[in-house]
Amino acid sequence: MPVKNRFAELQAEITAWRRDLHENPEILFETHRTSALVEEKLKEFGCDEVVSGIGRTGVVGVIKGKSDTAGKVIGLRADMDALPIPEETGAEYASNHAGNMHACGHDGHTAMLLGAAKYLAETRNFRGRVALIFQPAEEAIGGARIMVEEGIMERFGISEVYALHNAPGQPEGKFLTTPGPLMAAVDTFHIHIKGQGGHAAMPHETRDPVMAACGIAQAIQTIVSRNHYALDDLVVSVTQIHTGSADNVIPDTAYINGTVRTFDKGVQAMVIRRMQAIVDGHAASYDVEAELDYEVGYPATVNDPDKTTFAAEVAREVAGENRVLAEAGREMGAEDFSYMLEARPGAYLFLGQGDSAGLHHPDYDFNDEVAPVGASFFARLVEKAQPLRQGAEMEQA
Ligand code: NI
Repeated sequence: MPVKNRFAELQAEITAWRRDLHENPEILFETHRTSALVEEKLKEFGCDEVVSGIGRTGVVGVIKGKSDTAGKVIGLRADMDALPIPEETGAEYASNHAGNMHACGHDGHTAMLLGAAKYLAETRNFRGRVALIFQPAEEAIGGARIMVEEGIMERFGISEVYALHNAPGQPEGKFLTTPGPLMAAVDTFHIHIKGQGGHAAMPHETRDPVMAACGIAQAIQTIVSRNHYALDDLVVSVTQIHTGSADNVIPDTAYINGTVRTFDKGVQAMVIRRMQAIVDGHAASYDVEAELDYEVGYPATVNDPDKTTFAAEVAREVAGENRVLAEAGREMGAEDFSYMLEARPGAYLFLGQGDSAGLHHPDYDFNDEVAPVGASFFARLVEKAQPLRQGAEMEQA
């Protein structure tokens, strides 16, 4: 039976899993119920190997093809974690974990990969093996990094990796990707300023951290406007400034926080160097102490050009020629699948989910209509990457 027809049959089941996950969102590494459900399903489908507790709460399932001796191992990844956002969708299956919700559609990603797993375990029309990677903590910390550090690529012999992310605002079921750099590296900076507070009527007796914070926040913007080559991608955003408590008090301290997005490690190094110089220089000129704490986060997500071309071909088979944009261009969001793509070549694709609230919004809800498309993509990718030798499929049919 063609891949797409089988997934049309599985849609009700995939939707039920997705809504169950949506109702029970778990954040970061706390995906205990989710991981247990994934493990149970993978065993029920007849996966040849199911390993839990990788990357704390990550799960990997392995399915052997009908001819598993000659082929390689393809890794397919879904993220499982939710966000600390109170849900406002009003859905029947809305979160029953107060304060947390699946606002990024990772419930849908997990359900789609489970759907693909069920089909692949049933049919096994491929050579080699497929490793189904279910990871926690995509939204922060980087569950993917920890799973890579714990050696999943070597342990399961994975040679290439693929992942999907839903995309609100893009046509339902349309695939978008791009070869090469796709999503940015994300860093976080914290600047702690310590001056000398006092009465606001006598500023000459203080060393004002508020003015220093304003000066630093302004000067940081010149890293983008004055220090870097205009055609390189760079975002530096100051997102928080906290200080003070009253109109007549100059506070002791101020705090600045923000994010940096880059694609190039040279640009990233320049930002760190310039930010340090700005902080040190302003500390001297405003007569305060200032400390920069710069956290390097997820690296850029870089698609392998050949694997991306291949994945786009698979997407065309599943969705149709006109529903694949293979050169969509890059964006400044970030994704910890980048660690898997640093370890192995592969591709990351977006899957349009029609008009809906945006990702990380309290009204967001994954569109169940696109789940069969995503599950078909994963399944077809494995069959197309490692087709059974001619005749073998017939023999087994
Ligand atoms: Ni996400």
